[in-house]
Amino acid sequence: MEPSPIIAPSILAADFARLAQEVHAIEGAADWVHVDVMDNHFVPNLSIGLPVVQCLRSATSIPFDVHLMITDPERWAPGYAEAGAYNVTFHAEACEDPVALAKTLRAAGAKAGLAIDRDTPVEPYLELLPYVDTLLIMTIKAGFGGQKFMPEMLDKVRAVRRRISAKGLQVRLEVDGGIAADTIEQAAEAGADAFVAGTAVYGAQDPAEAIRKLRALALGATVTP
Ligand code: DX5
Ligand code: ZN
Repeated sequence: MEPSPIIAPSILAADFARLAQEVHAIEGAADWVHVDVMDNHFVPNLSIGLPVVQCLRSATSIPFDVHLMITDPERWAPGYAEAGAYNVTFHAEACEDPVALAKTLRAAGAKAGLAIDRDTPVEPYLELLPYVDTLLIMTIKAGFGGQKFMPEMLDKVRAVRRRISAKGLQVRLEVDGGIAADTIEQAAEAGADAFVAGTAVYGAQDPAEAIRKLRALALGATVTP
């Protein structure tokens, strides 16, 4: 288990007309800022891409956690690493050779993340854990913010946590989708140590306060081995 939980607000739920200010509002409270890139192919939705990430990168020092919900990540993911993203996560369903892409991302200076969507079993990917820095379990179907958390996805989180512990790996186990004050504890108990929250942070009156509350809940529920 990594020492402290990571809280990663998703700017998908922020005001896109004021992105820099929205990121400034979580500085000092958030660990990472989660950037959802959607291409209208891998998922039906379309959000933001590389030019926005490049501009926003120069507006803040918070590490960027880029979540690529796109087809052909081999072509596009390295650009996000080169733009200064801290972590670049691509989807298992969209990638033929995750180990090779993870290696490319690390060579470009980023951490490498592998995401598992709602309908994808995690077992086939457990053996890839030594080759990635982050494993993201979707707790919804990827594509839209504001969906309802699916507790049945936590079996995948437990399976990944067991493997990370058994092998003594340094991998962040991230959950994404419907994470809020009423769901974060069960995700932490299942073994997650990084938490994406869109609506729960940017839908709150005070985003920084919402992050502090989520962190306290996650810390309280974290099971130390
Ligand atoms: C959805 C995105 C999520 C989304 C989460 O496909 O990957 O990161 O922003 O939003 P909430 O926290 O509102 O479920
Ligand atoms: Zn996401």
